[in-house]
Amino acid sequence: MNQNELKQAVAQAAIDHIVPQLKQESIVGVGTGSTANYFIDALAGIKHSFDSAVASSEATAERLKSHGISVLELNVVPHMSFYVDGADETNENLHLIKGGGGALTREKIVAAVAETFVCIADESKLVDVLGEFPLPVEVIPMARSYVARKLVGLGGEPEWRQDFVTDNGNLILDVYGLDIVDPKGLEQQINQLTGVVTNGLFAQRPADILFLGTTQGVKTLHR
Ligand code: 5RP
Repeated sequence: MNQNELKQAVAQAAIDHIVPQLKQESIVGVGTGSTANYFIDALAGIKHSFDSAVASSEATAERLKSHGISVLELNVVPHMSFYVDGADETNENLHLIKGGGGALTREKIVAAVAETFVCIADESKLVDVLGEFPLPVEVIPMARSYVARKLVGLGGEPEWRQDFVTDNGNLILDVYGLDIVDPKGLEQQINQLTGVVTNGLFAQRPADILFLGTTQGVKTLHR
């Protein structure tokens, strides 16, 4: 199986996991990226089993709508059973790095609301220690240089993601060189920097279940 086939397999595993638990009134949160796109395409096949979706990005909203899936604004959703999304890295505790696609803030908000966060990823994303993938940090534009200096102080090497503006009108600093042995602590520390909207560590709210695509089949990891 190639990487795309692994992504497709975990997307289908997420569908198989949620379908028995969906009700007509259920709302499904949907992530962003190539793995999430396979999930959206598979979700179209069961669109009559739930009410609506909440999108974690404009791109995801467009794709959902193109399949005829109703998309709600998060503010009108009091309860969400599932959030399904990919990741850039995961450790065995299901702490994640996300934001390679720049949608980390909305992804984190939707994940916070969801009862169950289902992560879908191919085996290349599983690491012992997070940080080989540069950690995305969303910043208010005028705070970019200030936050970058502070991130250097934390031992990172921030790079401004060129020609990229988030759906929230902000910028991304990709932080290289971090050896993230305390994901929860670092998540909190970076979020406390003035001018940071949020960072791509999902450790305080990790995934609850991970479907990992491997050449031996889809493995299921629980937190
Ligand atoms: C977007 C994300 C994605 O989930 C992450 O980048 C993984 O993407 P892909 O499924 O394309 O590998 O966090 O902000």
